[in-house]
Amino acid sequence: MIKVVVVGAKGRMGSEVVKAVAAASDMELVGACDIVGVGEELPEAPGIFVERDLQAVLTRCKPNVMVDFAKPYNLDFTRLAMEHGVVPIIGTTGQTQEQLAEIEQLTELTGTAAMVIPNFAIGAVLMMKFAAQAAVYMPDVEIIELHHEKKVDAPSGTSIMTAQMIDAARKAADVKAVVPAGSPDDRARGDEKCGVRIHSVRLPGLVAHQEVIFGGLGQVLSIRHDSLDRTSFMPGVLLAIRRASQAKGLTYGLDKLL
Ligand SMILES: NC(=O)c1ccc[n+]([C@@H]2O[C@H](COP(=O)([O-])OP(=O)(O)OC[C@H]3O[C@@H](n4cnc5c(N)ncnc54)[C@H](O)[C@@H]3O)[C@@H](O)[C@H]2O)c1
Repeated sequence: MIKVVVVGAKGRMGSEVVKAVAAASDMELVGACDIVGVGEELPEAPGIFVERDLQAVLTRCKPNVMVDFAKPYNLDFTRLAMEHGVVPIIGTTGQTQEQLAEIEQLTELTGTAAMVIPNFAIGAVLMMKFAAQAAVYMPDVEIIELHHEKKVDAPSGTSIMTAQMIDAARKAADVKAVVPAGSPDDRARGDEKCGVRIHSVRLPGLVAHQEVIFGGLGQVLSIRHDSLDRTSFMPGVLLAIRRASQAKGLTYGLDKLL
C-alpha cells in the first residue's frame, strides 16, 4: 500500500485527489492538511480528519508521498516533505524558475525525489507534445489559455511549459519564428515566454483549456485541449503516486512518466 498525504485537501483539486486515492486499492490516504475545515472528518475518506500542522502529520503518518494542491504554492511544504523522506508530488502551479532550481537542489541534498506536474491531464500532455512537433514545421505560434476566474497565476503553468517545449523544438530544428509588426510592449499582445506569446482568459464557467495556434502560408493549425471536469486530472495523479517510489531527482511534467 502506498501511503498518501494530501495538502490542500479541502480545495477543488485536493478533494478530488482525496476521493481518487480513497478509491484506489493500492493506496491508503493516511493524512490530510488544509487551513480550512481543520478538525473536520473528510466525507470522501471516513476516519481521516483535516489537520493544519503538516510537520506533525508527516511525522505521525510516515507517508510515502505528499500530493500538494495547496494554493498559493509554498516551498516550505516541499522542503518539509523531502526532509522527512517523503516524495512531494506538486500539482500547485506558479513556481518560479528559482524555486524549481531549489527543488532540484533539494533532491540532491536529501536524496528524496520530487515531482512538479503542471498538468496531470493526459490530453494536455499530448497537446504539448503535438505542439512541439508542429513547431518544427510551423514555427509561428501563439497560445490562448483559458481558466476559471479563481486561478491566481497567469499565464498558466501548462502554457509556460508548452512555450518551453515549442522553444526547445524550434531551437533543436534551427527554425525561427517571424517577428510580427507592431510594438512587443503593447499589452494587447499578451505575455511572452520563450519567444511565444501567451494570452490568458479568466472567466467563470471555464475549467482549464488551451489552444495553440500555428500560422503558415495560407493556413492555420489549431491544437486545442479542454479539461471539462477536475476528474480529468486524476488518472495522472494516480500514475505519479504509483511512480514515486522509482523516481529520482526532479521530475517535471507528466510526459516524463508516460
Ligand atoms: N497540475 C494540474 O494538473 C492542476 C490542475 C488543476 C489545478 N491546478 C492547480 O492546483 C492548485 C489548486 O487549485 P484549486 O482549484 O484546487 O484551488 P482551491 O483554492 O480550490 O484549493 C486550494 C486549497 O489550498 C488550501 N490552502 C491554502 N493555504 C494552505 C496552507 N498553508 N496549508 C494547507 N492548505 C492550504 C486552501 O484552503 C484550499 O482548500 C492551483 O495552483 C491550480 O492552478 C493544477
